[in-house]
Parts: sequence; structure tokens; C-alpha cells
Amino acid sequence: MEGPEVLLSLNSRGLLAFEHLRLHKDTQAQADGAEVKESVDGDQQQDEGKKDEDGESEKEEDGLWEETFKSHTDTKPNGPTSISLDFSLPGVEHVYGIPEHADDLKLKTTDGGDPYRLYNLDVFQYELYNPMALYGSIPVMLAHNTQRTMGIFWLNAAETWVDINFVQGSSEKPQTDVRWISESGIIDVFIMLGPKPSKVFSQYASLTGTQSFPPLASLGYHQCRWNYNDQEDVKSVDQGFDQHDIPYDFIWLDIEHADGKRYFTWDPHKFPQPKEMLQGLMDKRRKMVSIVDPHIRVDSGYKIHNEITSKDFYVKNKDGKNYEGWCWPGNSGYPDFTKPEMRAWWASMFAYDQYEGSMENLFTWNDMNEPSVFNGPEVTMHKDALHGKWEHRDIHNIYGLYVQMATAEGQIQRSGGVERPFVLTRAFFAGSQRYGAVWTGDNAAEWDHLKISIPMCLSLGLVGVSFCGADVGGFFKNPSTELLVRWYQTGAYQPFFRAHAHLDTTRREPWLFGPENTALIREVIRQRYALLPYWYQLFYQAHKTGMPVMRPLWVDYPKDTATFTIDDEFLIESLHPSHTKLCKSLSLFKKTILYFRLIYFNCVFFFFFFKIPVFQRGGSIIPRKDRVRRSSTCMENDPYTLYVALSPKKFAEGELYIDDGHSFNYDTKKEFIHRSLTFANNALTSRYLYSSVLYLSIVWHANLLMISQTGKETPVDFEFDTSMSVLTLRKPGMNAGADWTLLLQ
Ligand code: NOJ
Repeated sequence: MEGPEVLLSLNSRGLLAFEHLRLHKDTQAQADGAEVKESVDGDQQQDEGKKDEDGESEKEEDGLWEETFKSHTDTKPNGPTSISLDFSLPGVEHVYGIPEHADDLKLKTTDGGDPYRLYNLDVFQYELYNPMALYGSIPVMLAHNTQRTMGIFWLNAAETWVDINFVQGSSEKPQTDVRWISESGIIDVFIMLGPKPSKVFSQYASLTGTQSFPPLASLGYHQCRWNYNDQEDVKSVDQGFDQHDIPYDFIWLDIEHADGKRYFTWDPHKFPQPKEMLQGLMDKRRKMVSIVDPHIRVDSGYKIHNEITSKDFYVKNKDGKNYEGWCWPGNSGYPDFTKPEMRAWWASMFAYDQYEGSMENLFTWNDMNEPSVFNGPEVTMHKDALHGKWEHRDIHNIYGLYVQMATAEGQIQRSGGVERPFVLTRAFFAGSQRYGAVWTGDNAAEWDHLKISIPMCLSLGLVGVSFCGADVGGFFKNPSTELLVRWYQTGAYQPFFRAHAHLDTTRREPWLFGPENTALIREVIRQRYALLPYWYQLFYQAHKTGMPVMRPLWVDYPKDTATFTIDDEFLIESLHPSHTKLCKSLSLFKKTILYFRLIYFNCVFFFFFFKIPVFQRGGSIIPRKDRVRRSSTCMENDPYTLYVALSPKKFAEGELYIDDGHSFNYDTKKEFIHRSLTFANNALTSRYLYSSVLYLSIVWHANLLMISQTGKETPVDFEFDTSMSVLTLRKPGMNAGADWTLLLQ
């Protein structure tokens, strides 16, 4: 309640349900007084057992104590457990979040259809515009209207369903009714009251943490495919980028790189000299990612398997034996990542002397961590498998988070705590943002999949996961050239920018589609690199405050109802990459006038002189590095260019954040530069905190521009384009870390 107004009511539809754990009557009869599971209210449990003996309350209804799915049986040792609660949100017509679904940003009514399902699954060729479960689950919903943004965080890692109903009589106030149902666990729910979107983000961040601050290089371009076949292949793709003058930072190795899908090893024929390969990349200041999946080949000749077995770290089946399932290597065991000792051991496997052939420019990809079990129910683990005392059903949705957590920790440890990790995960849960990046899994080379990548990433950003991307080009099938180019143009403006393709697809490195298309792809990748300082600064902000990097328009214009359903356009704070208003025809893109009419603008934006329409919000200052080189690390010491787009009141503001780009020194030693930039009264100023020292000033006399520092004035090169009203100052020689003012007179 706030004043007399009801913002949210719980259980107003009376759907609160709590089914506690029970003992089966047979078990109870066998061992009356048997030890009761710790998490259960003992008295209640015993009462229940007594009733069972009397045969008063328990009926052997189908599926309550055992369920079958295809050839699988789920024994339910604790009986039919579930919890549920309903929430009513008066005045709310727009709700968002609860990823991962391949659906629109604004959640739909589930009245008459299936609820949104949250259950991490390895889905083969997922369907679009469907509430079916995908690889990750974040049980967080945002409700928004012109007055307020709120959030509901339903902290439960069991299979969860969410029903949504929009209630609106002709004269009544609209209302959204939501019901959450989980298969097991307790009701543990957090309400975030906002009222501003930014408040909801920080309130949620205070519960689950913020986006990890990624190494700068990981914001560059990633070249992946299943698979780069051998060292020669890696070398020639690497050279291809140089020959075609296209920057990239990471090349990726999929499962075929390992010796018989034994992760942490290298195929001795295809990758006999991994260090030589990594050194070759390091010499060019580039990096590599190798895949490390959490299914472990059951093989007595495999060190990882033997150690996990001897330490008794595998997940158990209901009978207490090691759980085994089928995955890429064949018969596999699944390490119990819910155990802290297991995670500590896993982390230690990333030490340079454990992961042979690894070097400091090798990073990690955790795939199949839902976990994927090819011969399991719904291609995942049996719910009655055991993690110590806990059934898999209780923790299913958080398994993948723990895999990424342990892997990220391993990378930190191998560097002695100095370097920031980079780990990509497919499965995720609330809090996964603290461990790295996620991608949207196995999409397809189809226009609709390109389109859905936007709401999918926007939904993730709203619930903390800023570092998100989709496979550029589409994973399954071969994209048309036009689709591939368009996908690059979209992916370059999404936080995690990686091209990836299925093993059976034809090769699609950026230079394989003729010079004209190579040029288009080159151009947009280079634009990505020029904007890296800005991406980096936004990630720093996300890391500090929980503010998403890629945002739906309504986050910045919360009172503008026209923005509430837009999910084919978005903002990267002050940038509006409007080419994402997707159309299939390249020629339409060339007719920019026609195109502009399709874009929604809330305030003044300036056309940013890219070959594709990207707009900068009036009133903003964006830092760039316009000298693009082979990789982000090669651009480390290059100068910054500030793009100042004035508001109608001739004002602009922005920030500049600089650090070493890869270590934790920004945090542990406070080694960073963070400036606030302001343009007002014809002066551009850079300030840090309360410092007001005028370090340097530039004075522009009619057609002469001078820098003055300690009284001495020197001329500066500049150009003024009268048709576009663009003033360009060349090499003003300001020190990024110092206070300065640039005065236009
Ligand atoms: C499934 C992943 O989603 C895909 O990206 C990967 O290429 C394959 N597994 C093989 O590792």
C-alpha cells in the first residue's frame, strides 16, 4: 500500500497452496517414526503418516506418488509437492521478464493457453512466440505503468509455471493477475517497489548481484563455428581477418577440439600444439575460447572422470549410484555442481598446470548445462536424481548457474585473483549475471529468429543479465547473404557479439560472400570496435548499478505509453540503432527517408553518420575510438573521440570510463579514470568528483581554435561542416584523466 492506493495484493484469488513433503504410506508403515527429511515440519509429517495408516487421507491417485513420461518413471519419494501464490496488480497492463522464452517482450495472457514455463531444457529447434521452456530461467517479472515500475522475484529453482491474466471491464481500472506455481520448495518471494525502472533494477541487484564487469576484449567480435577443425584452420581464419581488415578478439573451439569429447584435453591429431596456437593468437593480441561442458565421459583412462569418481562428486541416481546419462561423449557422469567442494575442485582444474595446453588467453564456454541428458526425460536429468539430500527436482534450474560460477572462479584463481574471467553459459538462473555472458542457444538462420533475438535479449537485460547475444547468422541452416549481413548489423549492436554455426552448415566467415558484402560486414564490425569505449562504460555502469545495457524504450521513457510494446527497437543508453526495425530488403534500407518514418522517436535524436541508421540522443556525449585496429587490445592506447550531440537547449552530458580493460585493479586498487563530461554554455568540461582545477582550455576565435594551457596558446586543427553543423577538432591533446574545459567562443 502507498497511501490509499493498492499497488499489489497477494492471494486475492485464494490460490496460495503449499504441499509439504510426505512419507509414502508403505514407507511409513515399514519404518514408523522413520527419520524425517530435515526441511519438513516433523509434527505435521508424522500426523500425515498416521492419517495414512488409518487410510483416511491418502488416495493412490494417478501420478501423485509416481509419474511416467514416455519411457521414464519419476519416483516421487516425497509425494506430490507443489507451491503456488497469486498476485494482483491493479492499474497494470504491461508485464515483462521471466526469461527465457522465444517470445515478444511484453508478456501475453496465458488465459486459454499454456502458462509460461521455466524449466532449463536443451530444446531442439525451438519454436517462436511460444511460452515453452528454453535453456535458462529467471523467475523475475516486471510490471510497468506510467506511474510505477515494480518487480516480483519468485526465488525457486524447481520447475515453475507462470499464468498471466489481464482483467479489464469496460469502465474498470485495468489489472493484471499473475499466478506462480513451482513443483517443490518453499514460497520465498521478493517484491521490488521501484517506483522508477532504475530503482527496480538496483533493488533486484541488491538481492542477486549485478552483471560481472567483463574484460573489454569480450565486448569485441567473436568468431565461432562448430567446429574450427584444426590448428591450420584456426590459423587461416585468423589470417582471413587480417587480409580483409576486419577486427576480431576471440576465435572459438567447439566440442570437436577435445580428445574424444574429454573436456580439458586436446585432440592430439587436430590440435597437437595448443600452446603454439594460443601463442600465435597472443602475438596478435587475440584470444581463444574452448568449450568445457559439464557432462564427463565415463572412461577409466580420463583423469577428470577418475578424480570426480574418487572424490565422489557425481550426481547420484535415486538408488544412490552415480547417475549416468548419454551426451556428446557417450555414457557420461554429471558432476554435482551444487556441492561447494565440487565447485572448488572444478575451479582448480583451470590452473595452467592442470588444464594442459591452456594459456592466459584461453577462456571458456559452458554449454549443455541445463543439464542436457540425451536419453533423459525431456532431454534432461531425472527429477529423482540426488544432489546429496536434495532431489534434482528441487534445484534443476540453478544447476547451470553453478557450472558457470565454478568455471569463472577457476579462471580467476588461475591468475592469482588478478584477471577478470570470461565464461559463456547456455543455462542460467537468477544471479547468473555475476559470472559472465549468456546466449540464446540454437536459433535458426531465419528472419524471424533474427527478429526475436531483440526481445529475448531485452527480457534478459530487464532481469539483470546484460551480457546477452544470439548466434549471428543463425545456428541451424544456411542464411541467405542478405540475412547474414542484416544479422551482423543487428548483432553488432547487441551486447554479446558472436557469429556461430552448426557443424552441418556451409562455411560463412565474413569474407565468403563477395566484396560488397564483406565490405558491409567489415563496416559494421568496425563500428562496433569504434564504439567499444561506450559499451565498456555502459557495462561498468551495469556492474555498479544493475542498469541494463540494452534497454527497451520504455525504460528511458517510462511515461510514454507508445513505447510500452515496442520490442523491435531499443536503446543502448543514448544510442538508437534503428536498423533493427527489420525489413528484408536491402534497397529499403538505402531509402533512408522512407525508413526514418518507421522509427519511433521520443525526443531529439541525431543521425549518427554510419552507413546504417544509428541515432545519438540529443543531449548526450559518447566516447569512441575511431582508429580501428586488429583487435580491441591493439587499440588500448589510442586516443578517444567524443561525439557531442546537443539538446535543443544546447546542452549535453556523458561519461568516460577507462581502466586496464582486463584486471580487477579497477576494484582492488581503484585504478581507473571515470570522468563526467558536460557541454553547457558553449563549454565542454571534463570533471572527476569535486575537482575543479582548470587544466587546459581551448579558445576558438572565429575561425581560429587555440588550446591554452598555463597561459600558452597553441592552434588546433578543426573543421566545421556548415551543412551538417558538425564541428570536428583534431588532436586537441587533452589528457583523459585530467580536468579540462574546452571553450567555444
Ligand atoms: C549445443 C550448442 O547450443 C551449440 O552452440 C554447440 O555448437 C553445440 N551444442 C555443440 O557443442
